[in-house]
Amino acid sequence: MNIAVAGTGYVGLVTGVCLAEKGHQVTCVDVDEAKVAKMQAGRSPIYEPGLEELMRANAARLAFTTDWAAAYKDAQVIFIGVGTPEKKDGSANLKYVYNVARQIADSVRSECVVVVKSTVPIGTNDKVEKFLRERARGVRLHVASNPEFLAQGTAVRDTLQPSRIVLGVEDAFSEQALRAVYEGFDAPVLVMNRRSAEMVKYASNDFLALKISYVNEIANLCESVGADIEDVTAGMGYDGRIGSRFLRAGIGYGGSCFPKDTKALSWLANFNDTEIKTVRAAIEVNENQKLKLLKKAKKYFPDGFDGVKVAMLGLTFKPGTDDLREAASLVNAAILLEDGARLQAWDPVGTENYKRFYPDQITYCDTIQQAITGADVCFIFTEWEEICRLSPKVYRQLMNKPIVLDGRNCYSLPACEEAGITYISVGRRPVEAGQ
Ligand code: UGA
Repeated sequence: MNIAVAGTGYVGLVTGVCLAEKGHQVTCVDVDEAKVAKMQAGRSPIYEPGLEELMRANAARLAFTTDWAAAYKDAQVIFIGVGTPEKKDGSANLKYVYNVARQIADSVRSECVVVVKSTVPIGTNDKVEKFLRERARGVRLHVASNPEFLAQGTAVRDTLQPSRIVLGVEDAFSEQALRAVYEGFDAPVLVMNRRSAEMVKYASNDFLALKISYVNEIANLCESVGADIEDVTAGMGYDGRIGSRFLRAGIGYGGSCFPKDTKALSWLANFNDTEIKTVRAAIEVNENQKLKLLKKAKKYFPDGFDGVKVAMLGLTFKPGTDDLREAASLVNAAILLEDGARLQAWDPVGTENYKRFYPDQITYCDTIQQAITGADVCFIFTEWEEICRLSPKVYRQLMNKPIVLDGRNCYSLPACEEAGITYISVGRRPVEAGQ
């Protein structure tokens, strides 16, 4: 099929490339000329394992352009995969979605389906269809919702082997077109109305956010009552009704989706004169969780961090991505710097992006060893494999004071005891050096 994709962020680009891999002719559209030039040269503007290889392998079926009119005019299906960032009040900002809708209406020449992949508030698809039909004269346009469930770092696999394909459609033409798009995929296809499809996305993301916040609260309680969260979640996860995934306690969820989508649903509920108390609670728990290590560190630095040499390991919101959106490291770095700390940081891929926030205030290191050398305390914000593989003994050898506060539970407690470091993690008993 002849497919156009608007937006080349995580959702748009990965969707476009994977649809080309399945044999479709795909044109990806973006307003950013530099980004388009990069993609035309076979390079991915985002860090996503496997994506560049797939772009090159499917170069014959993939085009990248800023010329939206040419891309949309004869497309059979147009995917909208642009961002829906959070507004100040927590609601989703739809200006990019409407910009694309305007361009589509002004350029299409034949009947086609406009598929909204971006995460949008319930009812948006209806509004986009009304907008398109009023503006596109003489051409029949249909709108369908097809939410995206890919996670950063595993985006290619999640898209090529999806857990499910949700099609929110209001007419047979849209259903038929989308079934044809996904013919080559081996996944359950669920057909429902557009509003339900829009809700599936929020309900799924917010459920996962809720699960993490729940487990973080249990972890906090474990610390108070002498239980160990790793054992507790192992015991819970074997129950198939609970499941072991997304049960990792830590310093809270970040990224471009959970923080935004929890706030958006909470806003939407409020706007509709109802309340989603559980989601509101998840948001609150998560905000507190991000400051947990700092609070615990006060015990060791009662006079604050002025002049204290602080190592930060892991800057991104999770491993496998260079994305810093809502990363726990950011809020912690801001407080530490304000308090006068001297920061030295290590991250395998996030450093360049971090420099946009802190070009000179932080010393960026090429190795973990450099970052912890001479440090008075070390914070771990992301469970990169390189960090998890490190022996806790290295902290003892290289730090000035071996105090490690781990927001991702990277090490076993006996290993830290044996190494003789002070090790504070989440939901587990503290290990004090020299005990
Ligand atoms: C999330 C969802 O997992 C995807 O299904 C969804 O499609 C995507 O949002 C989206 O809406 O586009 P993503 O934000 O890439 O994907 O990352 P996740 O792997 O879900 O992790 C989000 C945050 O939760 C990370 O900060 C991670 O460290 C944290 N997390 C995850 C935990 O703290 N504990 C866990 O057990 C799992």
